[in-house]
Amino acid sequence: MTIEFRDVHASYDTDTPILKGVSFHVDDGEFVAFVGTNGAGKSTTMRLVNGLLKPEKGEVLIDGVSTVELKTSELARRVGFLFQNPDNQICSSTVREELLFGFRALGRLDANAEARVEEIIEEFGLNPDDDPFLLNRGTRQLLALASIVVLDTPVVVLDEPTTGLDFRECVKVMRIIRRLHESGATIVMVCHDMEVVADFAERVIVMSDGRVVDEGPTFEVLRNRHTLEVASLVPPQIVDISLALSLVRQDLRGTPVTQANDLDEMCDAVAQVKDVEYLGARGLEGGSR
Ligand SMILES: Nc1ncnc2c1ncn2[C@@H]1O[C@H](COP(=O)(O)OP(=O)(O)OP(=O)(O)O)[C@@H](O)[C@H]1O
Ligand SMILES: [Mg+2]
Repeated sequence: MTIEFRDVHASYDTDTPILKGVSFHVDDGEFVAFVGTNGAGKSTTMRLVNGLLKPEKGEVLIDGVSTVELKTSELARRVGFLFQNPDNQICSSTVREELLFGFRALGRLDANAEARVEEIIEEFGLNPDDDPFLLNRGTRQLLALASIVVLDTPVVVLDEPTTGLDFRECVKVMRIIRRLHESGATIVMVCHDMEVVADFAERVIVMSDGRVVDEGPTFEVLRNRHTLEVASLVPPQIVDISLALSLVRQDLRGTPVTQANDLDEMCDAVAQVKDVEYLGARGLEGGSR
């Protein structure tokens, strides 16, 4: 399913505009990341996708249909939503009940739904009888994600799915999201971690002060110095190194980096550009430079 914003204006109280004319398009089956500074309006944009908030001006279209024309239950069948804080969406006393909750709310609780819940419990490695509120942060996040995945919605909106997770939990959550994408779901993800964005998103939309300030294929956007500055983004290491190498290439007065035969010399040059000390192989051997 596609998502389209056409000149969307939105606010929580009419005196303070939050979204100031947001337009973008997400293709069917695409994986798009939203990035930007705190307060840029990313979560607000996500709330408009799932209809929690309606536009004051402009239109939000899910597969060509405006969210104001769709009933809450119709939207819920189309869009799964992972909140920025998992505690905002967990409300049952056991893991199994939590996973059944969505089916109950949509009036779809039947044998198929129960079978799907058992499948997801197995896939996510959850204990069905655990009390969700006694789980650690990472497992609660996993449960919140499972409660979305179980419903098999064609659009999945994820507001910072990896925040607060340790590396192992982050990898687990992102593998599940990747599988979801591979199975054909349209994924929209807000994320502060540019390493995660670089690894998973096909396209990036950058927001600042209630507006879209840049969008494009992930690496094009994350290599754009102006964009990085406007949105205060820390580029992923791969981009950081490639930006430094492009400067080194200029330093070497046209000698292509791939032809540099002294790796240490090249790393030294990168280190100078990056203003860090390179210890390199000799450093690791304990020698001084
Ligand atoms: N429920 C609310 N009521 C009033 N104002 C709100 C509400 N939620 C957010 N805002 C305001 O709307 C603006 C945009 O907030 P939003 O949460 O969309 O930003 P964000 O890009 O998701 O930021 P973050 O990276 O911190 O999550 C902020 O100025 C925020 O204070
Ligand atoms: Mg937010």
